[in-house]
Amino acid sequence: MTVRIGVLNGPNLNLLGTREPEHYGTLTLAEIERRIGQVADEASAEIECFQSNDEGTLVDWVQARAPSIDGWLVNAAALTHTSVALRDAIQASGRPFVEVHLSNVYAREPFRHTSLLADLAIGVIAGFRVDSYVFGLRALIGHLQAAE
Ligand code: DQA
Repeated sequence: MTVRIGVLNGPNLNLLGTREPEHYGTLTLAEIERRIGQVADEASAEIECFQSNDEGTLVDWVQARAPSIDGWLVNAAALTHTSVALRDAIQASGRPFVEVHLSNVYAREPFRHTSLLADLAIGVIAGFRVDSYVFGLRALIGHLQAAE
């Protein structure tokens, strides 16, 4: 069966390409999504990508898409460190997820060292720029396919 992955991107990730390239690299979000689209194709998986700068919109998307989604790839961006609402929405979805970050959040400001998602995640990958998404997606697909 084809696994379906929801790819959630949080606030300010629409600015990738020009935003702080020393932390996030130079690829745009569209380019990252194309790259992980190739990874999904190779694994016969499907991805559905969504980005919003708004916490409530992300919660609404998770609630709306959960019935059709087998797992989530999540870069909640700043909401990683602050959002109980997004944590609750992902937990309520009952779907497994992998948390990813482009930058190594543990080598940055202390407030980025706390994640309100990580203890619920299958795993966390940080610091590999676009490859955080690639590794995270492969790990999630492997997890879901093994469970089938
Ligand atoms: C980020 C790290 C967060 O701390 C930050 O707020 C982001 C991006 C990353 O991908 O490295 O917006 O999630």
